[in-house]
Amino acid sequence: MPDDQPRQRRGAARPSAVVSAVGRIADECGTRLGRPLEVLDLGGGTGGVAVPLAEAGHRVTVVDPSPDALASLARRAREAGIVDRVIGVQGDGDSLDGILAGRHVDLACCHGTLEFVDDPAATLRAIAQALGQGGVLSLLVSGRLAVVFAKAIAGEFAQARAALVDPSGRWGSTDPLPRRFDVEQLETLLADAGFTDVVVRGTNILGHLVPASLIDSEADRAALAELDDLLVSGPGREFLRTLGNALHVVARRD
Ligand SMILES: C[S@@+](CC[C@H](N)C(=O)[O-])C[C@H]1O[C@@H](n2cnc3c(N)ncnc32)[C@H](O)[C@@H]1O
Repeated sequence: MPDDQPRQRRGAARPSAVVSAVGRIADECGTRLGRPLEVLDLGGGTGGVAVPLAEAGHRVTVVDPSPDALASLARRAREAGIVDRVIGVQGDGDSLDGILAGRHVDLACCHGTLEFVDDPAATLRAIAQALGQGGVLSLLVSGRLAVVFAKAIAGEFAQARAALVDPSGRWGSTDPLPRRFDVEQLETLLADAGFTDVVVRGTNILGHLVPASLIDSEADRAALAELDDLLVSGPGREFLRTLGNALHVVARRD
């Protein structure tokens, strides 16, 4: 919405709230351990999370099956002057054992990736194994209920219903996402994989329902983020986190 600040178009701005949150988690862990962290970013793609973490002094291993993404990651790392702290390796959850060769990491990120893997339970178990005891997981996945609301608001009632009842949370055969998640399902998957202290936060609860043309400044994004925070922090309203377009999970390896 209009404001008095200079306008900054979508996508041209500062790190996302989730990337900033991961930075804060890494800072806390690093302070506790008294050294830079060893980080695994599974499905880290072009380095949206890995590059800021390496810029903050941590050592990040990005594991991703896409050679194109890894090439972009390498270019970004060169441009940022952090090639000594970012390593990109082609692979997936099944390759972690061989890639890490028994080494444990302090922090594992898996953002926007669990939707695409063959077996989310096996991938979470592999990540748990890569983390040492007490290691921290940052997991970001697409939420099922958000797409149900978005489709209903757009008048796509059959697709909204499909997303609600489909075991994988898909709205149809042309849905580009193979899978979406519910909060309870995530909590079960994480407990089964050996994670504890699981905190799930819904992100982008309202923003994804607002037409993009109405969000065109940093002030708009900040106002929506504040609305999200206020929404879930009111008494009896914590369940609204389940409506997040993305669900950000932070958990500890038992
Ligand atoms: C939506 S992108 C997310 C990239 C990055 N994590 C981010 O948040 O910007 C999904 C990434 O998952 C990777 N991917 C797809 N299948 C995978 C698998 N089985 N194991 C690990 N990564 C996978 C893709 O190559 C892609 O880089």
